[in-house]
Amino acid sequence: MKIAVLTGGGDCPGLNAVIRAVAKSAHQNGIEVLGIKDGFRGAVEGDFMPLSISDVSGILPRGGTILGTTNRDNPFAYETKLNGVTKTMDRSDDVLRNLKEHGVDVLVAIGGDGSLNIALKFANKGLSVIGIPKTIDNDLMATDQTFGFQTAVETAQEALDRLHTTAESHHRVMVLELMGRYAGWIALYAGVAGGADVILIPEIPYNLNRVAQSIQRRAKQGKKFSIIVVAEGAKPMGGEMVVERMVAGRFDPIKLGGIGAKIGNDLEEQFGMETRVTVLGHLQRGGSPNSYDRVLSSRYGVAAVDAVLEKEFGIMVALQGRDIVRVPLHQAVDKLKLVPLIDPLLLTARSLGIELGD
Ligand code: F6P
Repeated sequence: MKIAVLTGGGDCPGLNAVIRAVAKSAHQNGIEVLGIKDGFRGAVEGDFMPLSISDVSGILPRGGTILGTTNRDNPFAYETKLNGVTKTMDRSDDVLRNLKEHGVDVLVAIGGDGSLNIALKFANKGLSVIGIPKTIDNDLMATDQTFGFQTAVETAQEALDRLHTTAESHHRVMVLELMGRYAGWIALYAGVAGGADVILIPEIPYNLNRVAQSIQRRAKQGKKFSIIVVAEGAKPMGGEMVVERMVAGRFDPIKLGGIGAKIGNDLEEQFGMETRVTVLGHLQRGGSPNSYDRVLSSRYGVAAVDAVLEKEFGIMVALQGRDIVRVPLHQAVDKLKLVPLIDPLLLTARSLGIELGD
């Protein structure tokens, strides 16, 4: 038996911990493991590498992925240069051929909704596929948590702790823009953990007057600074998300970014509040996974190999309560998991008096 592992989409803390767990558990069970370089690009181009025990030694705490990754290069719409002209082609059969040539029986795809959607298409083509849910955004259905999310939240909370001290010294409004795409999970968790005064998420379009009033109320109580956490996908009531740019060839061509600057400008212009804006960006994706993510990643990796041993394919391993379970792959990618308006932490935030902008 031989399995091949790839990491696809944006990287996140814990990818190496999963790769290590898959390799260790597989070798213990007499299964050979190959790594595929740079996500589905390597699968199309036949760029494979061995993943022996020594190849994964020492990578548990390391950020990023030793395999490389990409959030473009979809084999079903793959940009290929032919006679100097770039064409978009279906190269999925090349992937199947490459896997066969390397004697691979099972593909383990570690990814978010983009990569797992591709994995599902391969499952529908008859390939034995197992998915592992990765993304700092925590926006995958059918799992309570993706790995990488907790570490991103911790990084954002540390940033908020630092912003607090400078905000207080200068009596300023500080805006921190966080990642998360169309979901507000990172902003909600980091905002509560970091003691934010305002949390704005895509699921609740905001009214700037409400935000300004909450800051003015604080000022009247003697708190002359305020901290606003805003998810990159947040939008004003009746308005649109702020798109930084379109990136052709990406799984999702829309690259969000800029809502923090918009809120900062609007607060200064419309309410005369001195405001500074920080965009935390890819700091949320880099660095070593925290202990929660190391444990979750290790559990996911081992659970994927268990599924291989029991020959259960077309599934994703998922966290439900304290258990790692198997769910049909399509359940994970049919739609995004957004923050429900009755989410317990959202209700907690309201009870804490945090302004949610609505
Ligand atoms: O999906 C992970 C993520 O970090 C999102 O939160 C963010 O919108 C996006 O990827 C950024 O992508 P890129 O690395 O292409 O800038």
